[in-house]
Amino acid sequence: MTTTPSPATPFPAGFLWGTATAAHQVEGGNTNNDVWLYEHVPNTMYAESSGDACDHFTRYRQDIALLASLGLNAYRFSLEWSRIEPAPGEFSAAAIEHYRDMLRACHEHGLTPIVTYHHFTSPAWLIARGGWEDAGTPELFARYCRRVTAELGDLFDIACTMNEPNLAILLCEMGLCEDTPAQRLGNPTWEGAARALGTTADRIAGFQLSATSEAFEVKVAAHRAARRAIKEVKPTMRVGWTLANSDFHAAPGGEERVAQMNEENNLRYLRVSEGDDFVGLQTYNRTVLGPDGPVPPAAGAVVNPAGEEIWPWAIGAVVRQAWDTVKVPIIVTENGLNTDDDTQRVDFLRTAITEVGAAIADGIPVEGYMCWSAMDNFEWIFGYGPKFGIIAVDRTSQERLPKPSAYTFGEIAQTNGACLRA
Ligand code: BGC
Repeated sequence: MTTTPSPATPFPAGFLWGTATAAHQVEGGNTNNDVWLYEHVPNTMYAESSGDACDHFTRYRQDIALLASLGLNAYRFSLEWSRIEPAPGEFSAAAIEHYRDMLRACHEHGLTPIVTYHHFTSPAWLIARGGWEDAGTPELFARYCRRVTAELGDLFDIACTMNEPNLAILLCEMGLCEDTPAQRLGNPTWEGAARALGTTADRIAGFQLSATSEAFEVKVAAHRAARRAIKEVKPTMRVGWTLANSDFHAAPGGEERVAQMNEENNLRYLRVSEGDDFVGLQTYNRTVLGPDGPVPPAAGAVVNPAGEEIWPWAIGAVVRQAWDTVKVPIIVTENGLNTDDDTQRVDFLRTAITEVGAAIADGIPVEGYMCWSAMDNFEWIFGYGPKFGIIAVDRTSQERLPKPSAYTFGEIAQTNGACLRA
């Protein structure tokens, strides 16, 4: 009798193992975009200013070297549109050269770059003219994407047009943003931004918190226009967008709400990926819904220090749902855990990555896994409180301190997942 030895790892050769960051969360000094403006208006909903962030704008070479030294082979980062195009139609050669050097550094250290063209922040001038609810935005976004691809496209092959166009749907369900433009009136953050930009609060449509049907149409049109523009310049570029899909579970009576959220937050966006070269999936935990919306973790659930349930299996469910819905290759472009207790992160990564491996073993083409995040960083309205990094950052000295999870993740990468079976 012959037996076939079980493979040491389900992950294919060349699988991409990396971390992800976003410009505004790590670079520092992004004073020309809308989020900086929101951070600084009176009575803002933002906990604090992003300030110098992790000073990644100047420290990127050391950071990239550190990530490579852990054994990783990829790095997903975003370009800051407000630096590259500080005024409509005016492109900064200095900003473009900065990102060329980041890309060069990735290659020098053996990291495959995955480049996100837009990660939540927009130039303030774009928001002044109606932002992500304005029908003119797709063409402006495509112009920026065309220029970036022409200037930088020789240095990377994987492009994410935009990050999490659907996050706002999830945040609205959690009561963190408004459902209609009119509901923005009276909110100090949008009122303050409107005063600064010479418009009205209902017209403040930033990317991250716009969940309206207008925003859906504009983001879909912008993704498609960007894909066309990028392919015109570099036909071989692999283009997709990255989605904040959740693993929805029903509490008693929540079945209808789960069906609705699956459609609104996950499925309709996945269908837009039809014809793309890949879809990026970004999932942190599951969302348990009752008839009136999210319910708190059940007694006995494993939680992080902030009381949020830890559910590392979510990424497996989301990968399977994506493949059932649209047959395009998948990259896990974000997955990770917010915790001050790094032992929880170590366990989370091992379980979540095992789930991804199981999906691959079942024939689903997953090409990479990017852990969010390379380092602790600016977590949007929550400021610097939440800790998602595998590397800690001393906010005074800017010293980088890899956590045990950085070495765990590095070992998983170096063994292409084989150590998970040991
Ligand atoms: C975003 C990141 C964010 C992370 C953790 C994702 O929604 O793309 O910018 O920091 O989740 O909350």
